[in-house]
Amino acid sequence: MSNKGLKPLSVLVIHGPNLNLLGRREPGLYGSLTLDEINGRLTEVANTLNVSLATMQSNHEGILVDAIHGAWGKHQGILINAGAYTHTSVALRDALLGVKIPTVEVHLSNIYQRESFRHHSYIAAIAIGQITGFGAQSYLLGLQALHHHLSKDSE
Ligand code: DQA
Repeated sequence: MSNKGLKPLSVLVIHGPNLNLLGRREPGLYGSLTLDEINGRLTEVANTLNVSLATMQSNHEGILVDAIHGAWGKHQGILINAGAYTHTSVALRDALLGVKIPTVEVHLSNIYQRESFRHHSYIAAIAIGQITGFGAQSYLLGLQALHHHLSKDSE
């Protein structure tokens, strides 16, 4: 169901460590788009869905935790690529559990085709779902899936 005519849903997009280097960081794995270009594409999709989008990136775990806390009461959904913290951070998982904001986890690369230390995600089990391996498209699919989930709630 579309929420056209209603107050736009608000989604916070969180990009974790090293994603500020996109475009020049291992392009064979992560593609050639910069973070700004990915955010631009996300904004285009958000506009078609009547979703209001905020984006942030940090290389610091505590700042990411604070951003999740700050989303409480402000955003109805979180789209997160936690980068390497995906595989290490109980703190990010606990923050997401603490604010209880529906979350979709995304990754540019297919984390299950890579080193075994990337196969475990602390976020996956507490997220609505995970989209991994579609490059920048993972973000766009993730936003659509999150919007679908949130719109279902208001049906
Ligand atoms: C990543 C996968 C992680 O394992 C890695 O540490 C990243 C990027 C991805 O989008 O494919 O920084 O989250």
